[in-house]
Amino acid sequence: PAMKIAFGLEDLEKQVAEVLNVEKVIVVSGDSDEYSWVKKELGRACVQQMKKQIAPGDIIAVAGGTTLAAVADMVSPSEKWKDAVFVPARGGLGEKVEIQSNTISSTMATKARAAYRLLHVPDQLSNETRTSLSLEPGIKELLALIRKAKIVIHGIGEAEIMADRRETSDGAVQQIKEKAAVGEAFGYYFDREGHIVHKERTIGLQLNDLNEAQTVITVAGGSSKAEAISAYMKYRPSNLLITDEGAAKAILNR
Ligand code: BG6
Repeated sequence: PAMKIAFGLEDLEKQVAEVLNVEKVIVVSGDSDEYSWVKKELGRACVQQMKKQIAPGDIIAVAGGTTLAAVADMVSPSEKWKDAVFVPARGGLGEKVEIQSNTISSTMATKARAAYRLLHVPDQLSNETRTSLSLEPGIKELLALIRKAKIVIHGIGEAEIMADRRETSDGAVQQIKEKAAVGEAFGYYFDREGHIVHKERTIGLQLNDLNEAQTVITVAGGSSKAEAISAYMKYRPSNLLITDEGAAKAILNR
């Protein structure tokens, strides 16, 4: 489209895709660090892509965060998501209720007039309790649904900001700092090389559950997230990255 060429966004998309080794990149104009409307545009672009990718009956797993909340805001009813089921990717991860994956998944489903399932598990659990909860029939069934998700949509955060925002334990914060984590996604923390250096304990999707058959859509923007986005993509390049001009330029100038 004309707008894109005028801003050179198509060039940015191609270059970022190459640098990050990501199949497809969509860049919206602006920098969400500077203007909040840019995050809304990320949301709009993501919903457009979701409508293209979703087939009737698909299971869609969504993570939490303010960016995913912006995606949820933009969802509107469509024939496309008839019979779709939205599920949260993982437990609450210490986030505020408004931006927990449970809330985002139910908001999306309600706005899409699709179905949703909630994952009712507290965040701070001992290993033992977590293991036995995973064996509860209702939870077990939901965990199986999450693993069957056709599409997984998530955000990326800066490691220290995420550890701060959540009620992350002192020990974990120290580990995140010592091991120089720069990025975070789904409660996993990554260093510059894309190695996992810390993982929040909650049930739900585990990163090594992700398989080739799934479409992973990452939505993250703002120049401050450049390092975090690059780190995560080293771990596992997503099928689609939806970002903004601010992050795209910062990724290329690293
Ligand atoms: C969390 C997600 O809730 O939000 C993470 O579990 C993500 O996957 C983070 O990194 C991003 O938050 P925000 O507010 O920057 O979109």
